[in-house]
Amino acid sequence: MKQPIDISLLIEKAKEIRTNAYAPYSNFKVAAAVLSDTAKIYVGVNVENASFGLGICAERNAIFSGVSDGMKRIEAIAVIADTKGPVRPCGACRQVLSEFCYDKTKIALCSMAGDMQIYTIEELLPLSFTLEP
Ligand code: THU
Repeated sequence: MKQPIDISLLIEKAKEIRTNAYAPYSNFKVAAAVLSDTAKIYVGVNVENASFGLGICAERNAIFSGVSDGMKRIEAIAVIADTKGPVRPCGACRQVLSEFCYDKTKIALCSMAGDMQIYTIEELLPLSFTLEP
């Protein structure tokens, strides 16, 4: 990826759509914006369901949207929620992130109040599951 990564643009994109989150059961609205290796941005929000187990997180919705459009790798992702400090992605999303992130992928965890901390996937999920021996 040639051009510099604009994390604040990703945060803006995520903020813009966070109110679209469908979270009537938890009232916990999350949004994510992914920058792909092809310099496209994909967004996602969490979508819950009356059958609770069917809900899906914002990160996975954004990532799966990118993959559906041909994204091979994540350059950067911003995740935001109305939390006290930077939002903490769930374990399932960390594992899905590990599939498409590389060692330099910037994972920006944010709060609506303006907190922001950038991590690598290795920091968020050391020893992630892999089929490779
Ligand atoms: N949620 C996300 O969207 N991302 C995460 O990483 C953690 C949790 C959603 C799932 C559910 O709709 C709500 O937040 C409360 O768990």
